[in-house]
Amino acid sequence: MPLSALVAAVLLLLAASGRALAASQELPLFREAPAFRNGPGCAAAPTIHIAMTLDAAYLRGSLAGVLSVLRHASCPESIAFHFLATRPRRFRPAVATSFPSLAFNVYRFDPDLVRGRISSSVRRALDQPLNYARIYLADILPSSVRRVIYFDSDLVVVDDVARLWATDLSPDHILAAPEYCHANFTSYFTDRFWSDPVFPGPLAGRRRPPCYFNTGVMVMDLDRWRAGGYTRKLESWMDIQKREARIYELGSLPPFLLVFAGEVKGVDHRWNQHGLGGDNVKGLCRDLHPGPVSLLHWSGKGKPWLRLDAGSPCPLDALWAPYDLLRRDDRDDLFADV
Ligand SMILES: *[C@@H]1O[C@H](CO)[C@@H](O)[C@H](O)[C@H]1NC(C)=O
Repeated sequence: MPLSALVAAVLLLLAASGRALAASQELPLFREAPAFRNGPGCAAAPTIHIAMTLDAAYLRGSLAGVLSVLRHASCPESIAFHFLATRPRRFRPAVATSFPSLAFNVYRFDPDLVRGRISSSVRRALDQPLNYARIYLADILPSSVRRVIYFDSDLVVVDDVARLWATDLSPDHILAAPEYCHANFTSYFTDRFWSDPVFPGPLAGRRRPPCYFNTGVMVMDLDRWRAGGYTRKLESWMDIQKREARIYELGSLPPFLLVFAGEVKGVDHRWNQHGLGGDNVKGLCRDLHPGPVSLLHWSGKGKPWLRLDAGSPCPLDALWAPYDLLRRDDRDDLFADV
């Protein structure tokens, strides 16, 4: 082969692999959601601040979550969204395309804040730095945001989020979340933790018995969080886990339990019907817990969009599907209802 042909062939190969790389990093395209308008009686409505994360793996889930909040809100135009992303400029257009009139901001979350603090857990997905971004909300959001609702990206809200926003945190609670006191709290920490003369100490001084809560749905008083330096408190447990002793197995949850369990303001369980992603090992389907439902949360290994795409959804995944904004090409549309 003449040299020029060889060079051309190499260049062609490089170009092709470059394109393949670019394509693999491209985000899917999403539809524009309908516009949601405030109803009567919203003039005096408070601004509701909601924080979520944005990344490539969960973008479809985040957008579905936003749509679900807006669809069920009595005052959707009074809601401000605060998104955390490691690459804000990459994700801002996706949100703006689906929600052209949404009040939102995308803040940069620096993954280096936690890289040195993450120890590997049973589920790799839980080790992503962005999974720890909720710890830094009080630092990253402007100080004018004094209360925020944090939502995971694998949930849909089917009630007026104003009801959750109205949670009473008085006299001095920092966090509100549904608590699960029947769950075995001991099992979230290692024997090494419980046998240590110092580590379990702080749990003994709590106002109420420490109970498990899920960090995917939280109402946070950011003023009190900032004043009390809670980000540093969470970080110090992560530093112990990373440098001193293996005190837990899961990702970002145990530090929250260590700092807040027994001091959480309880929220009705209807606001976090969690576990719908199924079991962490086999990914089995889960049913709803008894009682009313205001929020469905696909925590656990399985995600509804992946199971729907794979053609093997769990029964409750049908409740997520109406909020899916993924744009399908014309051919998909044609066959969607067949
Ligand atoms: C709770 O979990 C711990 C550690 O995994 C175990 O030793 C204990 O027996 C469990 N308690 C109950 C009531 O199941």
